Amino acid sequence: MTPNELSIQRYKRKAAGYDESAQYTMPLRQRTVALLQLRPGQVVLDVGAGTGLSYPLLREGVGETGRVLAFEQSPEMFALAAARVDREGWRNVWHVCASAEGVQLPEAADAVLFNYTHDILRSPAALSNLMRQVKPGARIAIAGIKYFPWWTGPLNIYTWLKNRPYNAKPGDLWHPWDRIEAYCDSFQRWTTQFGMGYIASGVKRSH
Ligand SMILES: C[S@@+](CC[C@H](N)C(=O)[O-])C[C@H]1O[C@@H](n2cnc3c(N)ncnc32)[C@H](O)[C@@H]1O
Repeated sequence: MTPNELSIQRYKRKAAGYDESAQYTMPLRQRTVALLQLRPGQVVLDVGAGTGLSYPLLREGVGETGRVLAFEQSPEMFALAAARVDREGWRNVWHVCASAEGVQLPEAADAVLFNYTHDILRSPAALSNLMRQVKPGARIAIAGIKYFPWWTGPLNIYTWLKNRPYNAKPGDLWHPWDRIEAYCDSFQRWTTQFGMGYIASGVKRSH
């Protein structure tokens, strides 16, 4: 089974309870969206959008004249995102059930959100496909889970267990941001959740 297939299989079971389990991270989602410094009329990309929890925040940032682009590879998660868009009658959300490695966007993005998308951040093929469809100078914001500092020792068993059901590649939690950082200038990072999480932002390099 490929990492994508494994992840799709796991989210099949997670989809129904996802929104409830994600409530405690909503303030962090708000912080990452704020780091994008969105302006009315911009095009923002929500990477691995899940059930579309960030759509309202992104729509607020780009306004009615802007556009939210999004993709999600799990059919069950995407169905919930699609139901959300239908229910709310949002006309400026373009989204598709597709993988980060293969998705084709209808236009280049001015800003990109990676909220809890560890597998995508660790996939060179996914980042290469996405970053070629993003404008130079685009703001990029990330929230995710990482290991506690090494000297906390056994605490990281908790982090590893917490991530295990979600990530196809759970071992790579020391510097989960380093592949996206390589695409950015002005990269900044802050620790959250007592050391078990991080938020980061940068600007897509022009070369
Ligand atoms: C922890 S959820 C985060 C969802 C959403 N960003 C949020 O903040 O609630 C991770 C999502 O990434 C999706 N995903 C994982 N690997 C992917 C890939 N290669 N391409 C597209 N989606 C992927 C999963 O299906 C899942 O919905």
